[in-house]
Amino acid sequence: MCGIYGYIGKLNAYEKVLEGLKLLQYRGYDSCGIAYYGNGFQINKAIGTLDNLEKVDKETKIAFGHTRWATNGAVNINNTHPHVSFDKAFTIVHNGIIKNADSIKDSLIKQDIAFYSDTDTEVIANLLAYLPGKIDNRVKQLFNILEGSYSLIIGYKNGDIYLVKKFSPLNLLQAEDGIYISSDISSLKQGELYTMQDNDIIKISKNSISNITNHQMNFVKHENSIKAYTLGKFKHYMQKEIYETPISIENTYYYLKNQKIRKIFKHYNKFTFIGCGTAYHSCLVGERLFREKLKYEANSELASNYELNKSISRHHLHIIVSQSGETADCIKVAEKIRACHGKLLLITNEPTSTIARMADYLILTKANKELAVASTKTYCCQLFVFAYICHVLKDKNYDINICQFTKILNDYMTNIKVTSLVEKLQSSDKMILIGRDIDYISLLEASLKIREIDYIYTIPMYSGELKHGTLSLIDENSNILALNTSDDIDKLEVVKNEIESRGGSVIFIDKLYRIDKSIDEYYKPIFSIIPFQILSYEIAISKGYNPDMPKNLAKSVTVE
Ligand code: G6P
Repeated sequence: MCGIYGYIGKLNAYEKVLEGLKLLQYRGYDSCGIAYYGNGFQINKAIGTLDNLEKVDKETKIAFGHTRWATNGAVNINNTHPHVSFDKAFTIVHNGIIKNADSIKDSLIKQDIAFYSDTDTEVIANLLAYLPGKIDNRVKQLFNILEGSYSLIIGYKNGDIYLVKKFSPLNLLQAEDGIYISSDISSLKQGELYTMQDNDIIKISKNSISNITNHQMNFVKHENSIKAYTLGKFKHYMQKEIYETPISIENTYYYLKNQKIRKIFKHYNKFTFIGCGTAYHSCLVGERLFREKLKYEANSELASNYELNKSISRHHLHIIVSQSGETADCIKVAEKIRACHGKLLLITNEPTSTIARMADYLILTKANKELAVASTKTYCCQLFVFAYICHVLKDKNYDINICQFTKILNDYMTNIKVTSLVEKLQSSDKMILIGRDIDYISLLEASLKIREIDYIYTIPMYSGELKHGTLSLIDENSNILALNTSDDIDKLEVVKNEIESRGGSVIFIDKLYRIDKSIDEYYKPIFSIIPFQILSYEIAISKGYNPDMPKNLAKSVTVE
């Protein structure tokens, strides 16, 4: 979703901000804008991509910009950031949502202040211009007035910059050539990093940095090659990331091996797994393993639908799974858990994320940055984490031959060829996916992939349920994808006959790609999902869609 990037330093600030915003593109955006300083702040805005922004020839040393993913108001130039106050003194970019923006706006309108956008950001700009007193104090007052989440870069007309943070992330990096600001740590390269805390206000005036809320600023060394941003031989990030799965799992294994897993879990016998989207599907797998293999009490909840039972026992561990650690629905749940003194474990790919800072325990996936909107390698790493943890909790001496495992996985992936399947499926407008037991969970995720990347309506179903209603959809145009990775007698054969006798066709993904029935069942969901990830990617390509940026979707959903 929205991204913020700023630069104050020796180099051409406009160019630096443009470069920085490009690194944030993966989050998804529909319009963008940059403010640059030279005799007051000048602004360039564009609908669509950063390539649509006008070039600026003038050298400028202060600039900041924004990629917008519309939440408050339609996609148009007026709603695009930066926003400027009615007196032109304040120029602002904003991530987050101001919950009481409407009432503030109403009272400002009563003071004859005109608004040109539908955004809550313009409300902040006009509020600052309206408030009396010194500029530092006006900025401080925002914390008393604004409700909601916000990270802000505010440019004052004399060139001073204010950074404000409440709930939404914002980071500052001091590098040799200047000061970099970003809402996303992974876009910052090398220098001394300060991750802003809630209620921080940092003022940057003539290159000097001060925290005007008097919080101590602990800078840490930050090194980041931003290698994740180079595509290498791949055409898209999604493709690159799918094929990075084996190395990501290997790195996750070496990390896990050095963690005191049993020490974390020994206090608990009840587990609630919480997540959204793809992460929720890994929760379902985790829950199942904990319940069936470890005989623990376990359940899964969608973060957006979660009602916390306030009487949490001290043996109850909440496990949030979130690739980004920034998903607003998950942050809300984390806040509730903390408020009730519940214990929270986060499984994430982003150790410095908002939820990581709230959690009692942290377990990382070591997948390196994931940029494509659709989660692929991080999902497989989450599955690996659960499988590995379950094994370790069953047997403290457990180990896996990781080289052998990743070799099997690599060989398996190399042999997945989807061309003929893509030809068969690319013109489908609907698809039914059938399976049983844990395969059904893999199909939930497979279905999400095909919906989000290929815009094909897919229905994941328990195979035995087909005859209880959905069989009415089957005709000679129906393509059914089936998954059966278990050793059980092939109950799906019966269903296959039911479908075929109505003219439909069934394709068994496990047979097509030879998912070896002897693979340790804890790890099997990793093998089950990969053909669907590759398939959804290739269908998108065949239809001319950009798999990295599916329409209407964002990588990190930072609004509830
Ligand atoms: C968005 C993304 C999904 C992702 C979900 C949860 O909806 O489009 O791909 O699975 O958020 O994200 P998280 O970062 O919490 O795992």
